[in-house]
Amino acid sequence: MTAQIIDGKALAADLRSSVKDVVAQIKAEHGVIPGLAVVLVGNDPASEVYVRSKGKQTVEAGMNSFEYRLSEDTSEEELLNLITRLNSDPEVHGILVQLPLPAHLDSKLVINAIDPHKDVDGFHTTNVGMVGTGQDAIVPCTPRGCMMMLAQIYPDLRGKTALVIGHSNIVGKPMGRLLLNADCTVIVAHKSSTNIPELARMADIVVVAAGVPGLVKAEWIKPGATVIDVGINRIPAPERGEGKTRLVGDVCFDEVSEVAGAITPVPGGVGPMTIACLLANTLSACCHLHS
Ligand code: GUN
Repeated sequence: MTAQIIDGKALAADLRSSVKDVVAQIKAEHGVIPGLAVVLVGNDPASEVYVRSKGKQTVEAGMNSFEYRLSEDTSEEELLNLITRLNSDPEVHGILVQLPLPAHLDSKLVINAIDPHKDVDGFHTTNVGMVGTGQDAIVPCTPRGCMMMLAQIYPDLRGKTALVIGHSNIVGKPMGRLLLNADCTVIVAHKSSTNIPELARMADIVVVAAGVPGLVKAEWIKPGATVIDVGINRIPAPERGEGKTRLVGDVCFDEVSEVAGAITPVPGGVGPMTIACLLANTLSACCHLHS
């Protein structure tokens, strides 16, 4: 069997285009321009790349992008003061503090200082609690993108057995909650789980966010299952020349795509969906704040 490829690049382009249309409409009808503030503390190279990409795509969708680059030694008080200012700024509808933060800053405290209505990451305890209890709230971008990709394969997820590998606050835990809200039977495995291949073989859906290149093998996968690969790992690629690298996921794509019914590629799978969902969350936050 050769799996259907779930094209995240194309889906994300569709979502960005819908967001852009609505942004133009609310600008024309109400004179409101959705605005996203992104805060980066320090100069982690991977975070720099994400923040640049978020800013560029925000502007391309017709929204305002406000970038705040703070030095590595920014104090908690300075960061909290900035968040307080952004919370009361009427031009800012979404606030994102790029993680990880430098070790001297308490990320839980910082995230919970964001107005929950502007928390476009969906990381504030209020939003986490609301999603966890099946209420309408801002949903974290990567899991939201994964659910949209699953919707391409299953019009109804009820009764499906889903395995999530990884239990981070950013992906694994919210992913498990969303699948549970959709009435899946959910298993969340993590570093301390001892029998992941066995759990995977029971699953109709496997979502992997472990950060381990090539973790998931063909023999783990039930024939016909859907595999969503959240991993983005940069590994050496000497075949491309000295010092070259390439991006791979957490799934052995070539062999798993021979067994799975559907699979997301890396790159071009979950990655583009994450930023497209951030734009959609910013637009929703703007509409909600002006309703
Ligand atoms: N770092 C890695 N992923 C994310 C994300 O989705 N949001 C934020 N704020 N930081 C991240």
